[in-house]
Amino acid sequence: NVYGVVLAGGIGSRMGNIEKPKQFMEIGGKPIIVHTIEKFVVNPAFERIIVLSPRQWINYTQDVIRRYIPANGRIDVIQGGETRNETIMNSIRYIEKTYGMDEETVIVTHDSVRPFVTHRILEDNIRYAKEAGACDTVIPATDTIVESADNKRITSIPDRSKMYQGQTPQSFKAQKLRDVYMALTEEEKAILTDACKILVLKGEPVYLVEGEVFNIKITYPHDLRVAEALLGGK
Ligand code: CTP
Repeated sequence: NVYGVVLAGGIGSRMGNIEKPKQFMEIGGKPIIVHTIEKFVVNPAFERIIVLSPRQWINYTQDVIRRYIPANGRIDVIQGGETRNETIMNSIRYIEKTYGMDEETVIVTHDSVRPFVTHRILEDNIRYAKEAGACDTVIPATDTIVESADNKRITSIPDRSKMYQGQTPQSFKAQKLRDVYMALTEEEKAILTDACKILVLKGEPVYLVEGEVFNIKITYPHDLRVAEALLGGK
């Protein structure tokens, strides 16, 4: 079984002073999160689509979904977690408790604020997660990546041909991800800002899925203008 997991548990602090979390801001006349959920709804491979939201925004999220997505029968809205990884863990616990889970159960986790994900990217994620257990959506780095351990001087410049920028979806066999996460120390959990890193840290394989340059994450106010432009071009 394959589940879509739309991560909307954040508030978007880098967007500046906004009245609602950024996933509810509108582009092309509807909330960003609606664009994103629609990409999952049209794909019958997803048994259910789990949307995770900050607790005080759960009702609002449900209202938005009812208003904009007529075919909303497969969508569940539940509470997110303190961190992005905790939000993912909430989705796994919920799926297990509500629908049951076995070792083949796959979750396709995706940022609610990446509305330009494509059908092809979702399909590749499902296939790789089923076959290989875990995958991450990436694009080749266009700029040279410079590492600085002290944020002052360069410590290394890795070979650009081996560097990628991480996007989402990130997809996993859900039980495996949870088991590895549960075995981490609190310290390890604290440094793991990326779900794929949970597996990488433990030497588990995570395969690369080709992303798209336009699969941007809406993070800063400037990104809203880029997103409007991308919609206009369609
Ligand atoms: N997210 C989540 N649960 C959290 C934190 C983040 O589900 N505890 C989600 C966000 O809602 C977003 C995605 O993860 O869709 C990508 O994270 P990011 O862009 O960092 O979102 P925010 O945490 O909302 O933004 P900021 O860091 O600017 O506050």
